[in-house]
Amino acid sequence: MAVLLTGGTGYIGAHTAVTLLEAGYQVVLADNLYNSKAEVVNRIERITGKRPAFYEIDVANAAELSKVFEAYKIETVIHFAGYKAVGESVTKPLEYYKNNLNATIEILNAMRNYGAKNLVFSSSATVYGPYGESPLKEDASTGCINPYGWTKWMSEQIIRDAAHAYPELSCVLLRYFNPVGAHESGLIGEDPNGIPNNLMPYVSQVAVGKLACLTVYGNDYPTPDGTGVRDYIHVVDLADGHLAAMRYCEKHTGVEAVNLGTGKGVSVLELLHAFERVNNLTVPYKIGPRRAGDVAECYADTQKAEKLFSWRANRAAEDMCRDTWNWQQKNPKGYES
Ligand code: NAD
Ligand code: UD1
Repeated sequence: MAVLLTGGTGYIGAHTAVTLLEAGYQVVLADNLYNSKAEVVNRIERITGKRPAFYEIDVANAAELSKVFEAYKIETVIHFAGYKAVGESVTKPLEYYKNNLNATIEILNAMRNYGAKNLVFSSSATVYGPYGESPLKEDASTGCINPYGWTKWMSEQIIRDAAHAYPELSCVLLRYFNPVGAHESGLIGEDPNGIPNNLMPYVSQVAVGKLACLTVYGNDYPTPDGTGVRDYIHVVDLADGHLAAMRYCEKHTGVEAVNLGTGKGVSVLELLHAFERVNNLTVPYKIGPRRAGDVAECYADTQKAEKLFSWRANRAAEDMCRDTWNWQQKNPKGYES
């Protein structure tokens, strides 16, 4: 029995592959390399001593996907594949809906055709939209403000409807908060294309000298220091959360949405200063205006993950900052270094 990781050479997929290989699972990666590099497979092998199978395919293509299901007896799919840039989704909505929704539909079809029962889906805290109050529980109201968010929301709905129609399925919708950090080896990490949109990769690229200065998007929010508060979670904790979710799926049927976060809010300035302190460096920054679509605070209520999966995040902001910097220093040009 094998576990298929769609989007498996991406940032979170690669870390989850390491966790699953180390836990003894047979791992198959499928990715079209739209936003990742084949070098990731070598790095996973260097860390674990095991080489996962890798298929360079578009998982929204039924024929290509069926080749993987023909070759391996897939019991579980962890579905990471998708486009994820919020701003780009506003200018290219049709590409986002087409890729992200077709991928989810074709995965479910293939699972039905080949008798795979368990699905863990990469959703996002973005489905809570800008209205909910933190700490966010899974039953908080949902709704989105950009096409990327809606693709997650709609994929959740498609999976819920499939789980209702096909009761043998077991599905977990993982709502990630803010994944950051890298494997402690520094061999795998986040390798964004172009100028990063997210805070942690931006901070580390300023620190390494690729970018001149961080702009803090607003210091007039109703938060302790006026800057935005988020729930940053170490990507290795997140990977462990996938293993726990998979094990839950193996013993249950139906569908559950579950937050993966630390439950702890950290402000932009707190994260920035932790990065400077832990890594003994200075990151130039200036205060700018708020970014459209941002909320003051967004952090998880983590009780459901603790109850269902017996899982909780262990790593602190300091670990996230140290491991990000270790990866950045060892790979100043990402996987092309
Ligand atoms: P990533 O871009 O690093 O990984 C996604 C991978 O999917 C990429 O390697 C890309 O090449 C691949 N892909 C995209 N469309 C594909 C297709 N049709 N067929 C095959 N491969 C395809 O992103 P990530 O940060 O690892 O995120 C993984 C998942 O988690 C995504 O679905 C993302 O939306 C979701 N998510 C990420 C975050 C975050 O902050 N990183 C937060 C919440 C949710
Ligand atoms: C963003 C996305 C969200 C997505 C998430 C994870 C938007 C509006 N939201 O959320 O949909 O699910 O990433 O991919 O894009 N910040 C700065 N300067 C920067 C970058 C960020 O001050 O250069 C601040 C932001 O204002 C925010 C915090 O840092 O307060 C975190 O930002 P970011 O990493 O982009 O994550 P989110 O805003 O949570």
